[in-house]
Amino acid sequence: MEKQNIDWANLGFGYVQTDKRFVSNYKDGAWDEGTLTSDANIVLNECAGVLQYAQTIFEGMKAYTTEDGRIVVFRPDLNASRMADSARRLEMPVFPEDRFVEAVVETVAANESFVPPYGSGATLYIRPYMFGSNPVIGVKPASEYQFRIFATPVGPYFKGGVKPLTIRVSDFDRAAPHGTGHIKAGLNYAMSLHAIVSAHAEGYDENMYLDAATRTKVEETGGANFLFVTKDNKVVTPKSDSILPSITRRSLLHVAKEYLGLEVEEREVYLDEVKDFAECGLCGTAAVISPVGKIVDHGKEICLPSGMEKMGPITQKLYETLTGIQMGRIEAPEGWIKVIK
Ligand code: PLP
Ligand code: COI
Repeated sequence: MEKQNIDWANLGFGYVQTDKRFVSNYKDGAWDEGTLTSDANIVLNECAGVLQYAQTIFEGMKAYTTEDGRIVVFRPDLNASRMADSARRLEMPVFPEDRFVEAVVETVAANESFVPPYGSGATLYIRPYMFGSNPVIGVKPASEYQFRIFATPVGPYFKGGVKPLTIRVSDFDRAAPHGTGHIKAGLNYAMSLHAIVSAHAEGYDENMYLDAATRTKVEETGGANFLFVTKDNKVVTPKSDSILPSITRRSLLHVAKEYLGLEVEEREVYLDEVKDFAECGLCGTAAVISPVGKIVDHGKEICLPSGMEKMGPITQKLYETLTGIQMGRIEAPEGWIKVIK
């Protein structure tokens, strides 16, 4: 298979239209068979539920070319189950989890020429999503939905690749207690746009959101979970019912414990104790592990000892082990790798 003529090494995290996308429609209480299509556009009624009341959810995962030339996807079954949780919370029909994984396989296989080569630094980002498609004017769930998956080749989420980030403690909240922070709903991202635009305008790469109830505990950023390392090499991640259960974070905790023999802790993390950590990183599908060098809390700078030049040593080991597993250099735990071809 001849690859597309793309400058893989210089790709940012942007949209590149690929050949095929998967589409399935839900009507009269059932999903149709679904199909691949070349049409990247969607035509909707002006009153579609998604346009009026933001009834939309999504997922994100990546396909990789391994060292030995296979194409694989990382843990798509967990994206399928998280999307089912998101659907239930927004009163949307669940797209069956086994069919979700099959559709991911079909979409990646149909866009094989867009899967970046091994060692290029790029990957194929896979975006499943679902939205209410029929007219809805009273506030209620739609009765018709579309489930789609497209794929787009991407480079690093943060400009500058793995250079440590500077983030700020946000005055805006991302998610309320008992709200929707734990699911991947478009509405969580719409309401973060003002916060990210103003963070960028003030020279920060991202926002650290605190818990909305007490504003004392670390939650997550707009698109990634936090991971901290203590001075005695323990890996700590915030536990909260209002953050997205990151698949990368869950995988990294396993890697830390089982591959690197580190102690791990998932617990509430207070903003007050962040100054005592040795390393900090943002983890997610798009972010992979992006090191944080500095956190600014209303003018007060918290400078991580790992500094502004490179990742801390434990973050680096976690990064190498996780990406090694994803790219076939290190043996993966049972069931983590879905082989496309
Ligand atoms: N938190 C938020 C708000 C996200 O959007 C994402 C991205 O999906 C993550 C965390 C990381 O989750 P995952 O590792 O499953 O990609
Ligand atoms: C992902 O990592 O897949 C996400 O959805 C995060 C988003 C901010 C790009």
